[in-house]
Amino acid sequence: MPEPLFLRACWREEVERTPVWLMRQAGRYMRAYREMRRRHSFMELCKNPRLAAEITLQPVRAFGMDAAIIFSDILLIAEGMGVRLEYTRAGPRLEPLRTPEQVESLRVPDVSTQMPYLLEAIKLVKQKLGSTPLIGFAGAPFTLASYLIEGGTSRSFMQTKRLMFTSPGTFSELMRRLTDAVAELLNAQVEAGADALQVFDSWVGCLSPGDYERYVLPHMRELMSGIDARGEVPVIHFVNQAGGFLESVSRAGGDVIGVDWRVPIDIAWRRIGYGFGIQGNLDPMALFAPEHELELRVEEVLERAGARPGHIFNLGHGVHRATPERRVRLLVELVRRLSSRRAG
Ligand code: CP3
Repeated sequence: MPEPLFLRACWREEVERTPVWLMRQAGRYMRAYREMRRRHSFMELCKNPRLAAEITLQPVRAFGMDAAIIFSDILLIAEGMGVRLEYTRAGPRLEPLRTPEQVESLRVPDVSTQMPYLLEAIKLVKQKLGSTPLIGFAGAPFTLASYLIEGGTSRSFMQTKRLMFTSPGTFSELMRRLTDAVAELLNAQVEAGADALQVFDSWVGCLSPGDYERYVLPHMRELMSGIDARGEVPVIHFVNQAGGFLESVSRAGGDVIGVDWRVPIDIAWRRIGYGFGIQGNLDPMALFAPEHELELRVEEVLERAGARPGHIFNLGHGVHRATPERRVRLLVELVRRLSSRRAG
C-alpha cells in the first residue's frame, strides 16, 4: 500500500492532491461531541480511552480528514508533573507556579503510569483507523510554561514575562523540566503507535524576536533532538503569531512548520526555507464567510503554497466552536477539488 498522502507531504514527496486536516478538528463544533459532553466532563472524556478514541474518529468519519489527531489536551501533562488542573466554564485553571521551590517540585512524568489513558486511546484508535495516519501532540515548553505561571489563559502574559525578566534562572529551569517532560510525552505517543507528532507553541507569538532566541529557542532545539523517532516520524512545529521571527523558529527544527494566517504562506515558506514542509494557514473565521468567499480564500492558500511538494492544508489556528459542520465538510471538499485540479 502506498504511504498515506499526509505522511508523504510531511516528507515533501510528490502528492496527487494537498492533504488536509484541521487543528481542534475533534471537539465542540461537532454535534456528536456535544452529545457526549452532556454526559461527561471534558476531563472524563480525555481519561476514558474508549470515548477519547471515539471522539478522535468522529471528524475523520464525518469529513474524511487526511489525518486524525488524538483527542486529549496539552495541559494534562501538568497533572503528571504534580500540578493541580481543572477545566472550568471560564477555561483551564492551574495552581500558579512562580517560585524556585515550586519549579524544583515539578517532576518529569512517567507517561505510562501517569497518563496510561492517552497511550491506551492511541492504541484503540490505531486499531480502528485503517490507513489514515494518527497525530500525537504536546504543548511546546513556552506555551505550557505560560499556563503554569499564569494559572490559566492570559492576554498580557505579564507574570510569565515578569518571571522571565526578573528570575531568568528560575524560568529556564522551568523550561528545562518542561522540555524533558514534553520529550517523554512525545516519545511515549510514538511508542504507542502515533504516526506523526505536532508540537503546539500557541502563545510564543507574545515574545519579541530577541526574547524568543534567548529564552525559548535553545529549549526547542533540545526538545527536537530529544525525539527518539526523528527522521522516521514527522514532527510538525506549529507557531501562532510568530511572523516576526520565523527564521528562528526554523532553527529550532521540526520537519514541517505550521503557521497562522497573519503571514502569507508563500512568504513564510521562503523565510523558513524549502528544506521544511509547511502547514496552514486559512483564517479559521473564513469558515463563517459566504461559500464563494471561502472558495476564493482556499484557492489563495493553495495558489500561494504553489506546486512545490510539502504543503499540508490546515487552518492557521484551531477551528472555532461555533463553526457549522457543513462548512467544515465544504472546506475539505474544496481543498480536495481545487488541489487536484492544480496538480492535473
Ligand atoms: O481535535 C484536536 O485538535 C484534538 C484535541 C485537542 C484539544 N486541545 C481538545 C480540547 C488539542 C490538540 C488541544 C490543544 C490545546 N489545548 C492547545 C493548543 C492549540 C490551540 O488551540 O492553541 C491549547 C492552548 C489548549 C489549552 C486548552 N484546552 C484551552 C485554552 C481550553 C479551553 C478553551 C478551548 O479552547 O476550548 C481547553 C479545553 C479543550 N481542549 C476542549 C477541547 C475539545 C474543550 C473542552 C470542552 O469544554 O468540551
